[in-house]
Amino acid sequence: MMWRPSCGLSAVAAFTGRKPVGCLLIVVSVYEFCRAFKCRWQSAARPLRNPETTRIQWAFAPRSLVVLLILCGVASAEDYVPSAQRGLEALRTHCYLPADLDQGIIDDLWTVWPEPERSEAERITDVEQRRQHIYSYYGLMPTPPELPGTTPILGYTANAQGQWVMNCLTCHGGKVAGKVIPGLPNSHLALQTLTEDVRLIKLQQKKPFSHLDLATLTVPLSMTNGTTNSVIFGVILGVFRNPDMSVDPKKKVPDLLHHDVDAPPYWNVSKKSSLYIDGFAPKTHRPLMQFMLLPSNTKKIVYGWEDDFRDIQAWIESLQPPKYPWPIDASLAEQGRMVFNDHCARCHGTYGENGRYAQQTIPWNEIQTDRLRLDALTPEHRQWMKESWMSRYGEDRVELDPQGYIAPPLDGIWATAPYFHNGSVPTLWHVMHSTERPVIWKRTENGYDQSRVGLEIEILDEVPEAAAHPAQRRRYFDTRQRGKSAAGHRFPDDLSPTEKQAVLEYLKSL
Ligand code: HEC
Ligand code: HEC
Repeated sequence: MMWRPSCGLSAVAAFTGRKPVGCLLIVVSVYEFCRAFKCRWQSAARPLRNPETTRIQWAFAPRSLVVLLILCGVASAEDYVPSAQRGLEALRTHCYLPADLDQGIIDDLWTVWPEPERSEAERITDVEQRRQHIYSYYGLMPTPPELPGTTPILGYTANAQGQWVMNCLTCHGGKVAGKVIPGLPNSHLALQTLTEDVRLIKLQQKKPFSHLDLATLTVPLSMTNGTTNSVIFGVILGVFRNPDMSVDPKKKVPDLLHHDVDAPPYWNVSKKSSLYIDGFAPKTHRPLMQFMLLPSNTKKIVYGWEDDFRDIQAWIESLQPPKYPWPIDASLAEQGRMVFNDHCARCHGTYGENGRYAQQTIPWNEIQTDRLRLDALTPEHRQWMKESWMSRYGEDRVELDPQGYIAPPLDGIWATAPYFHNGSVPTLWHVMHSTERPVIWKRTENGYDQSRVGLEIEILDEVPEAAAHPAQRRRYFDTRQRGKSAAGHRFPDDLSPTEKQAVLEYLKSL
């Protein structure tokens, strides 16, 4: 256990985050130490009457200090009571990474856009309006008014110099039908485009590149907007860490299978027993720190963040799914519930009162959605997780050889389009109709398709030639590309059209 320097005195931390027993132990030992120290102070002030007793009391002082320190350590490591509120504050106010942006860079970004977007932006003369336009171009979500924050964007935190640092909500804070919801995956994020443009502006403004700017020179951050190559970031950052998290810059990066993944919603984490689509990592605060393992964050710094990440995990697990905001046909949904319980619940669990979910991994042969994610997470990385501090050196269970993907909980599923781990299917109707899934599709900014339940989309046969610039092409989801297949999960094919319609209605209610 490390005390964070910002925590100040251990006693203060004890009263804000420790269980009563831990606090009591600390208070008792502080008292013991003060008593011994007081004797020493009194005997120095007054002439010694009984040198023998004083010597015993002197001897007691360092001993109580040792006891105090041990008790502090024991009480703090085991008895920390995480707080969701502190977790959200940590996410929104602490900087765990170096900065990527500042307002001066952001304001100039439009100047490197392709046409016609560049001219459109040029026509907006109001500074604030143009900023909103820029944020939306990159899929950066505005901070909802009720949240604490240091920048107008949910996914960024300002450092002491006012520069912007990425936080978890860059990818884990999104919007549905125009409403921003922390914990909803950001299915608009254009991380690759943003980073490429920032690099160009930094060159113009003669500002230094950040880790991300340099990383994109060799590693794609995202090939399609709304999804990211995050799994591979985790693999790369892990390569340079010894099992105890000390940095070894000499290690070699293995061959990598780059692929985009759609982040899952945070509110499902409380139901899950392990993390990620293959369930490979234990559900504890340490694996949540993977994204922060830049070499500049030394072992000591990482160890010092444990309590923050206990709090962040508590916040993640406190989240509830949003409710479907439009009318639901209750009797159709009730029919759907029965069909669902017969055909889907064995994998996805049951919902409502007495609902039950037990996480299961479904063998790939049975599920047959895109396979790349399963193959891309290297055996070495899984082994690294198992042998390292991340899993308490294997004490927490790590899945070394998952045979498939987890059937996720479906709470709030109406809000989390696109579907499947690679974000390849735009609506629940398309999940239910496996043969009618679009080959190429493009979403609208805020449109919600209430009849198909999911993203409002345009369906295309080809990515238009006019979308010549990579930034424009990344707005199209092309299921023919590697890692982007919309195939598989054909379980709903067994249902009749009316049963499918009923299940679709029921899914809105979860
Ligand atoms: C660049 C985008 C990105 C950032 C930033 C990011 N994540 Fe994620 N996160 C993802 C993706 C993508 C997945 C899905 C990976 C998978 O299933 O293989 C994911 C998965 C997760 C999961 C597992 C959820 C589940 O249901 O299994 C948790 C928990 C999580 N992230 C927490 C965090 C925390 C905490 C941070 C900040 C320290 C963070 N993430 C930063 C993209 C991101
Ligand atoms: C044999 C197990 C199994 C059965 C039966 C099953 N599913 Fe699934 N389902 C999965 C798995 C595994 C995934 C994750 C696939 C992926 O992401 O690649 C999934 C994903 C989904 C998703 C997308 C989840 C998301 O967050 O993107 C939906 C929606 C869904 N299933 C609905 C259903 C419905 C409705 C039924 C019944 C008609 C059903 N499933 C039957 C295993 C199953």
